[in-house]
Amino acid sequence: MRTDTGQLFRLEDYRPTDYLIPQTSLAFDLHPEKTIVRAVLSIERREGTDASQPLVLDGDDLKLVALSVNGVALGDNGYQATPERLEITQLPEEKRFTVEIVTEINPMTNRQLMGLYRSSGVYCTQCEAEGFRRITYFLDRPDVLSVYTVRIEASKAEAPVLLSNGNPVETGDLPGGRHFAVWDDPHPKPSYLFALVAGSLGHIADSFTTRSGRKVDLAIYVEHGKEPRALYAMDALKRSMKWDEDVFGREYDLDVFNVVAVSDFNMGAMENKGLNVFNDKYVLADAETATDADYAGIEAVIAHEYFHNWTGNRITCRDWFQLCLKEGLTVFRDHEFSADQRSRAVKRIAEVKTLKAHQFPEDAGPLAHPVRPRQYREINNFYTATVYEKGSEVVRMIRTILGPDLFRKGMDLYFERHDGDAATIEDFVRVFEEASGRDLSQFALWYEQAGTPNLSVSYDYDAAEKTFTIELEQSMKATPGQSRKKPMHIPVKFGLIGSDGKEIAPETTAGAEVIADVIHLRQRKETVRFTGITERPVPSLLRGFSAPVTLASELPRDDLMFLALNDSDPVGRWQALTKLLTGTLIAGVKRVRGGKMPVIDSDIVDLVGRITADETLDAAFRALCLTLPGESDIAREIGNNIDPDAVLASRDALIKAIAETHAGLFAALYDTLVNTGEFSPDAASAGRRALRNSLLDYLSVAEASPSRAAAQYRAADNMTDRAAALGVLVHRFGDSESAAEALAAFEKRFGGDPLVMDKWFIVQATRPGPKSLDTVQALMQHRLFSLDNPNRARALIGAFATANQTGFNRADGAAYRFFADAILKIDGENPQLAARLLTALRSWRSLEAGRREHARAALAQIAATEKLSTDVKDIVERTLG
Ligand code: TRP
Ligand code: ZN
Repeated sequence: MRTDTGQLFRLEDYRPTDYLIPQTSLAFDLHPEKTIVRAVLSIERREGTDASQPLVLDGDDLKLVALSVNGVALGDNGYQATPERLEITQLPEEKRFTVEIVTEINPMTNRQLMGLYRSSGVYCTQCEAEGFRRITYFLDRPDVLSVYTVRIEASKAEAPVLLSNGNPVETGDLPGGRHFAVWDDPHPKPSYLFALVAGSLGHIADSFTTRSGRKVDLAIYVEHGKEPRALYAMDALKRSMKWDEDVFGREYDLDVFNVVAVSDFNMGAMENKGLNVFNDKYVLADAETATDADYAGIEAVIAHEYFHNWTGNRITCRDWFQLCLKEGLTVFRDHEFSADQRSRAVKRIAEVKTLKAHQFPEDAGPLAHPVRPRQYREINNFYTATVYEKGSEVVRMIRTILGPDLFRKGMDLYFERHDGDAATIEDFVRVFEEASGRDLSQFALWYEQAGTPNLSVSYDYDAAEKTFTIELEQSMKATPGQSRKKPMHIPVKFGLIGSDGKEIAPETTAGAEVIADVIHLRQRKETVRFTGITERPVPSLLRGFSAPVTLASELPRDDLMFLALNDSDPVGRWQALTKLLTGTLIAGVKRVRGGKMPVIDSDIVDLVGRITADETLDAAFRALCLTLPGESDIAREIGNNIDPDAVLASRDALIKAIAETHAGLFAALYDTLVNTGEFSPDAASAGRRALRNSLLDYLSVAEASPSRAAAQYRAADNMTDRAAALGVLVHRFGDSESAAEALAAFEKRFGGDPLVMDKWFIVQATRPGPKSLDTVQALMQHRLFSLDNPNRARALIGAFATANQTGFNRADGAAYRFFADAILKIDGENPQLAARLLTALRSWRSLEAGRREHARAALAQIAATEKLSTDVKDIVERTLG
């Protein structure tokens, strides 16, 4: 039943509740189709509220069975109940009273995966953002903090494991083959952090002793038989716990920490207090089934959810407009963790790539919104790259502006002052202002203004005066609801490099504020003048990607070449190389569209060879350099009137030129990088595999043969190498016997494991060219495919729509029509998933006219459908604009 009103929620309408719920006691009687929830809420009327104010609780799809206040059942005239609201009007005069609510829910038919549902026979919950109201009536908002006691009763055979938040207090047997467990969480928390898991699960156990000596029992629960695949996640968890003590001074605060992996989950994972629930994709890994990227993802998500214990749980959000308070900050923390565990530079480049691939297009399209939005219709649609990734960049800029010591001082103050609070972005910014004595009011615009600032930079060297001048100008395009933008405070990290490759230190600096190696741009246009510069330097700007902006710099090609080889900042090297590659690729697209062949820039081809051959560089860094900007990266840089076929042709032409020029070097390197010894997922080994697999693609193109990839597929002793070989076979030689054989072998070997088979779906869904639509349609009928499992839907529909530019954007529009039908089908079961997948069409306006019209028609078809969920309605309406 769809009863959402599609109401608009506004930040300025925030008002605290009239009532508080200091204590919540829940009792679950679990049955697959009829679960009874008895909630006893201790209610406190807030000072200044009188007893005539009704208590209005949120619900969603609820059936009220019984209701009493202070132990007395309420008559019909004492309350009003609908599936989405319980209004109690007959209330006692006392400040404190008790409300007891009994509801009935059906976990079996819950396919939205919000509230209490079943995943492969396991009962589990997902309450963020507004799922708790699908369990019982409550003040389901993050500023209502309550201490929870939870009693779970279930069939012992069906659910031998009974888990909830906090510490275990009691377990016991009951008549009729049932049993119970009681959990107690002493930390007040908002309802979105409530969790319950009950089912038949295996687990691995370990422990961690905090620096103040608290021994914490750790467990990870998985499907029976998959226990060994949870060992890496456990290792990552222990490293996360240690790191948060060392780097942020944060300790864990309960006797147990449990993680559960489930196979039906809308997002990556969830930070419920003491009981994190994970998409199994972010728990399960071994050499046989997981790629290096999977391992890195597990490490990052385990850390992310664990770090939420302080940034999100102990300090939560006042309202959902403040979502970035916990998400941006926690992403920043998990980024830093991964950087410390792996190669910092490689990690940073990967972050920049993700930001540009996901957040920049969001900022440039119809779904653009500020890091802290001011309004929403459906909060689920605001778990976005802007809130998460740009939110993290904003925290990173605070550290860049203040430096690491004052940043830590500010964080310490944040934890000290706001522990136990439901806080706001203003609270967060204030601690850094107080810790540093600096004014961050202009900086705070990063939270308010949507859109990616563009920096135009020009340079002037005066040999006679020995001065070097940089002129910077910022601008930002209009975004929905924000036509005029104010200038932002942009920290631009920089270096000046001499012809010997060494940094040049200026004598004096005038103009815009420069502190150490950071230019603080605050006005629309500013100039910095450096004196005592005895030769024309090559400027490296935006080192470490110090601000989430686009950079239009008039740097000559030779300077970019120089930076790509000499910048001491690896991110700077990568940025310079990417700029060169993108430029030549775009020139190629123009020629292809004019019916000509791309002109190959042999200097750039040489440059790629030189970096690849440089043994002093990290293999992972070389792999990043060797991977050309993707088709969607190129499209994004072109900006409008995109023809994806021309983009692919230009990119393939450059790949071919690089491959043929460097075939000898690449082949030799490919051999030296061969795996020896036992598989290890560490960063250095993963880097070597990444480089070798990138070489495999080039070599296969140069050799115009699937043989090498087929051989690698057969010889592979790990999933990274196997999946890479399969990718080359399917994407480059899709019609070959070798591709068919490898696909069949993969299916035979992993056909019993849907999570692993997602890779098999993805590789086929992302095969370039118009034929992939038929493949995707055929795969929808595969026995392992199901539209209502989010991982499956993302593997086939999601990968097709977001990672197959030429297949999805077929000139005849057939793929858009197929996509619209699939979205509507998914929306009937799982609106959150449907809405998220639909964002794949957000850049439709930048396509060339024919495709644009087909895409618009598909969106209009969705918009015209009756009974759309609020989720999809919100996305489709904003996308059409
Ligand atoms: N808070 C979770 C995280 O980022 C995100 C999340 C998990 C979520 N499941 C959700 C958000 C369901 C909305 C709905 O760690
Ligand atoms: Zn999070």
